[in-house]
Amino acid sequence: MEPSTQKLIHTFGALADLGQEIAGTGDFSEMVRTSMHLLLGTLALRRGAVVECSGAGSLRCVALWGLRDQVVNGIEIAEEDKPAFLSGEPTELLVRNSSTTKGFLNRYRDRFAEEGIELVFPMVVRGEITGLVLLGGKASGEEFSDQDFDTVRAMVRHIGVGIHTHRLLEQVEQRAEENRKLYEEVRERYRETVRAFAAAIDVKDKYTQGHSERVGRYSEIIAREMGWSEEEVEGIQIAGYLHDIGKLIVDRDIINAPYNIDAKNSSELNRHPAAGYEILAPIKHPYADIPLMARHHHERLDGRGYPDGLTDEQIPLGAKIVSLADSFDAMTTDRPYRRRRSFEDVVRDLRENSGKQFDGKVVAAFARAILKEVNGETKDRRITKMLGKTYLEGPHVATLLEELITDLSYEKAQKAQR
Ligand SMILES: [Fe+2]
Repeated sequence: MEPSTQKLIHTFGALADLGQEIAGTGDFSEMVRTSMHLLLGTLALRRGAVVECSGAGSLRCVALWGLRDQVVNGIEIAEEDKPAFLSGEPTELLVRNSSTTKGFLNRYRDRFAEEGIELVFPMVVRGEITGLVLLGGKASGEEFSDQDFDTVRAMVRHIGVGIHTHRLLEQVEQRAEENRKLYEEVRERYRETVRAFAAAIDVKDKYTQGHSERVGRYSEIIAREMGWSEEEVEGIQIAGYLHDIGKLIVDRDIINAPYNIDAKNSSELNRHPAAGYEILAPIKHPYADIPLMARHHHERLDGRGYPDGLTDEQIPLGAKIVSLADSFDAMTTDRPYRRRRSFEDVVRDLRENSGKQFDGKVVAAFARAILKEVNGETKDRRITKMLGKTYLEGPHVATLLEELITDLSYEKAQKAQR
């Protein structure tokens, strides 16, 4: 085999290796270093540097072999140098033989010669100067041949594309990071707005201060206990905050009527879930099904709820959770016409109404969450904070909860057998 053919095969091999290096998703500096060593190895050169060029023209060494670290310090590509680099001709600058009397090479000829740099190749990709490749010190002492130039040109182009791609990726990542931050900000604004709405709803109802906020928290606790994802848990908390938003259009006197209201006013008040849906549906929420949870938080499993009289399977699980949280808060807070009910009484209500008003598995999940707190298994005592310190005190509380959980799982098993 002729030596030139052998060299050509070697060059092809090096280019293939380089291609793989550049396509790899590994460390960028490592990629450039390996590429440069392949280049130096192919031509048996002693010195080389791959230099990255910023948009402003300043240079930074990415890989270096046989040259000083400071090799490009103080060197920059000026605006007037760019046309010559970008024109494509000449694409390489032979330092020694250059007769240029102006421009980049003329400015730095002596400096390059001092460092032992014989070839300066600009890397131009898509009309942009990506950087320079500096080479020198041919081991054989021979002149650079045309074939050498072809090889270097091809390999330099590969490296240039690699750097360009890396830059694009960096830009994309930066943009993605910016978008992520922006998205987080928008979400935070949304959550703040929701909390403001919840406060507005609660202000309108003077007897149920903080009700929406508590329903949001109870809903979140139940959903987490049921194994919902963090995203879904956040969503149901929002739904809890907003479940009564429809009350904003109901007359304040009806909401604040101290005793049982007449049928006319009652049907006016019962408009609030559907009205809430109308308010929430046109908004693009970052969480799923918020309007539906507001619409169906007064539905019952037995179909006797409103506004649509849905039955068990027709009611979204989220609405069942909000419904339980809503009723639980109503039972455990004082109203002007009655004191709040004892915990024993509340548990009795939940047991009796499981399968009729409430979904048994939602009630069981809530009971488990309360039991965990009562047994000291959870660090932050959030339920206790909402109910007041003494409400869950006493040995009977844990027993009541354990019995409720057992009964509900027994009923569930019975139901599954039928
Ligand atoms: Fe409601």
